[in-house]
This record gives sequence, C-alpha cells and structure tokens, in this order.
Amino acid sequence: MKLLEGKTAIITGAARGIGRAIATKYAEHGANVIITDLAVNDETQQFIAELTAMGVKAKAFASNAAVFNDCETLINDILLEFPQIDILVNNAGITRDNLLMRMTEQDWDAVLTVNLKSVFNMTKAIQKVMLKQRFGSIINMSSVVGIEGNAGQSNYAASKAGMIGFTKSIAAELGSRSIRCNAIAPGFIETEMTAKLPNEIREQWIKDIPLKRVGLPSDVADVAVFLGCDLSSYVTGQVVSVCGGMQL
Ligand code: NAI
Repeated sequence: MKLLEGKTAIITGAARGIGRAIATKYAEHGANVIITDLAVNDETQQFIAELTAMGVKAKAFASNAAVFNDCETLINDILLEFPQIDILVNNAGITRDNLLMRMTEQDWDAVLTVNLKSVFNMTKAIQKVMLKQRFGSIINMSSVVGIEGNAGQSNYAASKAGMIGFTKSIAAELGSRSIRCNAIAPGFIETEMTAKLPNEIREQWIKDIPLKRVGLPSDVADVAVFLGCDLSSYVTGQVVSVCGGMQL
C-alpha cells in the first residue's frame, strides 16, 4: 500500500544518511520529493534520477537551511514547480562534539545555527503555504541526546532539546489549521555522522541497546513515513524515539 500517494515533501540535508533514506521511502510510497543540501553534485543528480525512476516527481536544490533568506528563496522557487507542499522534514544537522572546557564559541554557534535556527527558518518559510492550504505535517529530526543530554555534546544536545520545545509550540499554534508538527528522536543510527565515533564507544552502545544493534537510516525513515501520512492524522506535538530501546 502506498501511504503518501499524491503528497509532496521537502526534506532538508537529504543528499545522504537519514535524509536520503527518508527521500527514498517517501518516493516508494508515492510522494513527490524535493531534497535540499549544501551542494547539488553529480551524485545528488544520480539520486534524483533514481527517485524519478520510481514514478514520482523529484528535484534537488542547493540551499543552506541555516540561512534565513535562503529558505525564503527556496520555498518560493519550489512553489513555481510544486503547487502544494504537504510535508516538511527538517533533517539537516551537524555535530561539533567537545567537552565544554574545549568547546569554542564557533562550535556552539555553528551547531545551534545549523540544527536549531534552520528549523525556525524552514518552518517560518513553509507556514504561509501550509496555512493557506489548511493542512501540513512538519517533522523535526531531534535526537535522544536532546531528551537525555550527553557528555561532550552540550551544543548538540541543546540544539536538539530546543527543537523539541519548538515542535510542541508549533503544534499548539498551528493545530487549529490541521497543521501537525512532531519530532523524531533517533538513537544511534549508522551514517557518516556516526562513522566518526571510536570503535569502543560504538561497541559499548550496542551492548547497552536492548535490541542489540545500531539503527539503520531506513528505521528512522519508516517513522517519518508514519508521521508524514494520514495514519498519524491525530498525532501532533509528540516526540517519537527510534532508538532500539536505548532510551526507555
Ligand atoms: P549526515 O551528516 O550523514 O547527513 C546530514 C546532511 O545534512 C548532509 O548531507 C549535510 O551536507 C547536510 N547539511 C549539513 N548542514 C546543512 C545545512 N546548513 N543546510 C542544508 N543541509 C545541510 O547526518 P545523519 O546521520 O544522516 O543525520 C541526519 C539528522 O539526524 C541530523 O539532524 C542529525 O542530528 C540527526 N540524528 C542523527 C543520528 C545518528 O545517529 N546518525 C542520531 C540522532 C539524530
């Protein structure tokens, strides 16, 4: 069964990792897919060709989600080709991990700007479209670290916790117009972002995860399908953890 037939979704930071997996699953479920990332290269265009071959409309835009005006321009450009936008997935994110004593102001600002301000930028730009349509689903990619904190990730945890506060506030503000806003809190997901982690930490994490494996981008994408489609039409303001039970 195709759960997203006739819908159009924007996914930020989707050239690779979790965003790419969401774009793939969305296309498999019949959605038109717009992906953004800092740059659009040959590999991205190849990915767009793969999505299009699934029978949906797909397009990639180079756009920096951390820059307010870029997001406004992006949405206006998208509207020229896609008249309706049903789903926004705020997925773009970075890490600059360090203990507080070694964390620089630049590390703090970069993570807060890319992870949190981008969510404001994109949601603000899309809200006029969704208000006019009187429907929409916004999905923010938080993290279990935004709920529990993590030593060495105070900037990242603060940005991801901020996303949860933002998600709940937007759910309260826009619910009366049938616009839903939820967050996903992934645990340890196998992507280039987590490939930087030392092996000992990785092994320890797997030991501590009740399901005894790392998560795959497709595990997160499945939940993004649920939150994007009408099966979740009475779900808003929630944080869904996808972490193999890492956080109970
Ligand atoms: P990744 O590093 O593999 O992919 C992130 C993508 O975002 C890259 O393609 C990058 O170019 C893009 N990006 C970075 N800054 C951007 C900007 N300013 N504007 C547009 N695009 C930008 O990361 P991954 O693992 O796929 O993570 C995706 C999201 O999931 C992030 O928000 C991350 O914080 C979150 N997450 C990941 C977890 C994991 O274990 N991998 C766990 C919890 C949350």
